[in-house]
Amino acid sequence: MSGNVRPESMARITTKELAEKFIEEQVEAIREQVKDKKVLLALSGGVDSSVVAALLIKAIGKQLTCVHVNHGLLRKGEPEQVIEVFRNQMDANLVYVDATDRFLDQLAGVSEPESKRKIIGKIFIDVFVEEARKLDGIEFLAQGTIYPDILESKGVKAHHNVGGLPEDLQFELVEPVKLLYKDEVRVVGETLGLPHNMVYRQPFPGPCLGVRCTGAITRDRLNSLREADAIVREEIGKLKRLPWQFFAVIPDIQSTGIKDGKRYMGWPVVIRAIDTVDAVTAKSVLLPMETLLKIRDRIIAEVPGVNRVLWDYTDKPVSTIEWE
Ligand code: XMP
Repeated sequence: MSGNVRPESMARITTKELAEKFIEEQVEAIREQVKDKKVLLALSGGVDSSVVAALLIKAIGKQLTCVHVNHGLLRKGEPEQVIEVFRNQMDANLVYVDATDRFLDQLAGVSEPESKRKIIGKIFIDVFVEEARKLDGIEFLAQGTIYPDILESKGVKAHHNVGGLPEDLQFELVEPVKLLYKDEVRVVGETLGLPHNMVYRQPFPGPCLGVRCTGAITRDRLNSLREADAIVREEIGKLKRLPWQFFAVIPDIQSTGIKDGKRYMGWPVVIRAIDTVDAVTAKSVLLPMETLLKIRDRIIAEVPGVNRVLWDYTDKPVSTIEWE
């Protein structure tokens, strides 16, 4: 797509038919831009990069190489789904890098939230650059930039984009959904055949579970967080109307539990569900008691090391959405 301004005449993509037309146009535009050259894409498995991957696979097939960096901070099932959908179902060139140890080793003992974010961002770029250097003849970099990113370039999504690549890796950009709003990207994604749960994934902070395992991340607490988060998402996901964001946090504190008459130290899990329009302010969603009880019972029964379940029902302000 050329130009960074959405023309007023551009119809909002709300139906499968309109999405099909958009896909057809973009496939042609991508082929024209890329010709027989190779394209690289950092594929997080989030909505935007997944839709861009599916579009490019349709347009240029194996001329696209997707790199998926698993930093060990993704939600339960996410790296597996990226491999299943893109490598197994779409037959894409997918480089899967399990860099979990590298991330968690460098994060060990680091408790300051901004330092954690910086370390995660830096290692991500390092790993991506290492993989990019192994590939020959790349001339284009695809990105899942969407229109709100352009409108407010300092927005939430700025964290996700692969900025800061070294000079020898400055490629021409391919940004096929850069004039679309999120709801339109979703319609295009479903029309391209991506799974519903991938296309309607709730927004996730760039540093992923890293900022929900507060303080210095430990592997055991992170693993318990991943399990607890999956339960929270599954149970709240059954509600008729879904909150904008809903997740679990395990703060870096211990709580006393009792088992077989003996006291022991474990962790509390915090449930958080919020509604917002722009993430600048947010309202806590008042969850049904039935859902809260189900989550409590499942977490206590299924998640190792957890002996207490709390519900954070504060609004933003004064609380932020994430815990750090
Ligand atoms: P807060 O916690 O500031 O979050 O109320 C507002 C929104 O931003 C997301 N968030 C992040 N997204 N990188 C991101 O890409 C980050 O470091 C980050 N921290 C918070 C958060 O999930 C919420 O939707």
